[in-house]
Amino acid sequence: MRVYLDNAATTPLDPEVFEAMKPFMLEDFGNPSSTHAHGRKVRAAIESARKKVAELLNCTPGEIIFTSGGTEADNTLLRCSIDTYKLKHAISTPIEHHAVTHTLETLEKEGKIKLHYVNLDEKGHVDYAHLESLLKANPNALVSLMHANNEIGNLLDLEKVGELCHLYNAYFQSDTVQTIGHYRHDMKKLKVHGMTAAAHKFHGPKGVGFMYINKDKKIHQFIHGGAQERNMRGGTENVYGIIGLAKALEICYREMAEHESHIKKLKAHMISKLNATLPDLTFNGDSGNLEKSLYTILNVSLPESEENDMLLFNLDLQSISASGGSACSSGASTGSHVLGALYPESKRGAVRFSFSKYNTTEEIDHVVAKLAEICRVAV
Ligand SMILES: Cc1ncc(COP(=O)(O)O)c(C=O)c1O
Repeated sequence: MRVYLDNAATTPLDPEVFEAMKPFMLEDFGNPSSTHAHGRKVRAAIESARKKVAELLNCTPGEIIFTSGGTEADNTLLRCSIDTYKLKHAISTPIEHHAVTHTLETLEKEGKIKLHYVNLDEKGHVDYAHLESLLKANPNALVSLMHANNEIGNLLDLEKVGELCHLYNAYFQSDTVQTIGHYRHDMKKLKVHGMTAAAHKFHGPKGVGFMYINKDKKIHQFIHGGAQERNMRGGTENVYGIIGLAKALEICYREMAEHESHIKKLKAHMISKLNATLPDLTFNGDSGNLEKSLYTILNVSLPESEENDMLLFNLDLQSISASGGSACSSGASTGSHVLGALYPESKRGAVRFSFSKYNTTEEIDHVVAKLAEICRVAV
């Protein structure tokens, strides 16, 4: 049995998405910027994809800009909001995705901003009182806080942070790469100015994503070139990627309740099986809390031992794909910056299991049994 539990890294393409993309790989090949019939047909398809995404997020089509993925969307929103609004301070955490932390660190090195880190509690959740005191001390700041952490799954209260940013006139950008397609985002209600998404995290194709940019908080463009994407991103569009992204998001919204309930059951099942089988195991961040973490992610650590050090490798030998990272206070390059920030003293290796609609209870049982075998616990 081969088991894929690394859906936070990427998800398999939904066959229905592939069917929607196919015509744009073969017969509908025109350049959407061409004014002849071949081009016009493709232009119309891109605009209807944009309209579809906007409808699902309850915003206007002009607020959706397609990109090459989450990294480009994060880079654009951070760099260009700071540039457009001459923001001098940025408030974030050290456990954001590198697309955010490396961009903010670079902007600080360039002398454009002063970077402030908001305190995290022992589970890795943002300390909202400290966030407010940072906002009070540094009004007109950029706030970049992710909706769900890609390693430990911790969820942020987007509404609450939006209200706080509104109160102190801050520009609020949120990396929603792990939650778009898994939760409904109502952009008319949320006070978020910029959000990011990547299609391959919700059964769409790789190399395509989008950013939401609030129409009252427009920013300068990042990639200069042609007038594509309403002058916001030069370069010939990834046409079949965009078509696939919109179809994938449509399917997610159509089947969200069903998938959420299925995946939550898988996660709850894995938590109780692991607790029963491997009592020394701990859950990293708040990933063991079904209410406060993303339902697709479970991050676990086992006590330090020779077998556990090789856990991911041994899982791979058993045809189980998951992903890892450890606190690695020694500074080894394989360490996770998220676990390193939360557990600087820990030497325990960690495994992130992440689920999708395609996983089954049988797969979870198989993985827990193999894990126990690797750790030599009788089951
Ligand atoms: C939270 C988060 N942000 C950004 C990214 C980057 O997205 P992409 O791979 O589409 O550039 C990822 C991908 O792992 C992610 O999990």
